[in-house]
Formats: sequence, structure tokens, C-alpha cells
Amino acid sequence: MVKLGHTLLELFSETLGLNRSYLEDIGCSEGLFVMGHYYPPCPEPDLTLGTSSHTDCGFFTILLQDQIGGLQVRHQNLWLDVNSIHGALIVNLADMMQLISNDKFISVHHRVLANTRGPRVSVASFFKTHLLPENASRLYGPIKELISQKNPPLYRETTTKDFVSNYYSKGLDCKTLQYLKL
Ligand code: OGA
Ligand code: NI
Repeated sequence: MVKLGHTLLELFSETLGLNRSYLEDIGCSEGLFVMGHYYPPCPEPDLTLGTSSHTDCGFFTILLQDQIGGLQVRHQNLWLDVNSIHGALIVNLADMMQLISNDKFISVHHRVLANTRGPRVSVASFFKTHLLPENASRLYGPIKELISQKNPPLYRETTTKDFVSNYYSKGLDCKTLQYLKL
């Protein structure tokens, strides 16, 4: 995961027109947090969800889902299935990446359907630097090199600590970035 995370950060940096090590250098790969999810079979899946709609709060997430499937992403106002492919990993861009890229990358809304088949297991590797206490006061905002008169900053800067407490104070509502909008 660490190796793959580094490679992805190089690709994201290049895509943004920055030098290869840019995102790594500003700490986007520090604080890897791995979470295993266990979704028991659900007798009435139409009445609930496995995980409700949300965006992730870090920079990006690498996700492994098992053969049960159930992950969906929001695209053009539709929920699309992310089919399970054996051995495939899913990469979701998250809120901090949207913030620092000034909306060049958009944090993906996603959810997990409940299922009568199951249990379903998934493993999410979150790249979110704020987990390290010494990084809590680090400031993140739109990357200066991406800002110009034509592309003014869309967000103000925030410390990782404030960003995370705001994210968790609201539950999964997908509106985390709103309070930083200029
Ligand atoms: C998450 C998440 C999806 C899944 O942990 O943030 O979106 O497939 N998990 O469990
Ligand atoms: Ni998620």
C-alpha cells in the first residue's frame, strides 16, 4: 500500500502539472490508516444501506472489496455499481485532494449497498496525514502553483486538525468542504 500510494502520488502530481515529488513532499502519504469493514448479511437490504453516501476526508483511499460487491459511486446524478473484479483495487479521491487541487480533482461520493448475500468484507487504506499528532497543525489549502488570476483559490487554508474535527462533527454528509469555500 505504501509503495502503491507513492506511485499514485507521483501520477497525481504529474496530472496536476507539478513536479513528480510535489504531493509526497507536502506530506500526502504520511499517516496511512487501514480499516477493515465487515458487513453482515442483511435480511431487508431495501430498507437500509451498508454505508451511507459520503466522501472520504483524507487525500485518497485505496479500497479492496470482495466478490459480493455493493460499492457504488455517484456520477452525473446516478449511482453506478463498481463491480467486483478479483484482485482489483479501487482508488477514490478524497476531500483533502479536492481542497489542495482547487477542484482539479473532485472527491468522489460513494456508498455501499446492503446485501442478503454475505458477509461482505472490504479493506480501506486511507492516506490522511492528520493522524500523526505532529501533523495536526499543518496547514493545507489550494496549492500555490495551481492558483492564478484565471484560477483563483476556491477554498481557504485549514489545519488538518480543524478539517478532521469538522468532518466528524457532521456525520457522513458530503458537505465537509463547504465551510472552507471562499
Ligand atoms: C470507507 C468506504 C467502502 C467499502 O471506508 O470510507 O467507503 O467498500 N468503504 O467498505
Ligand atoms: Ni468511503
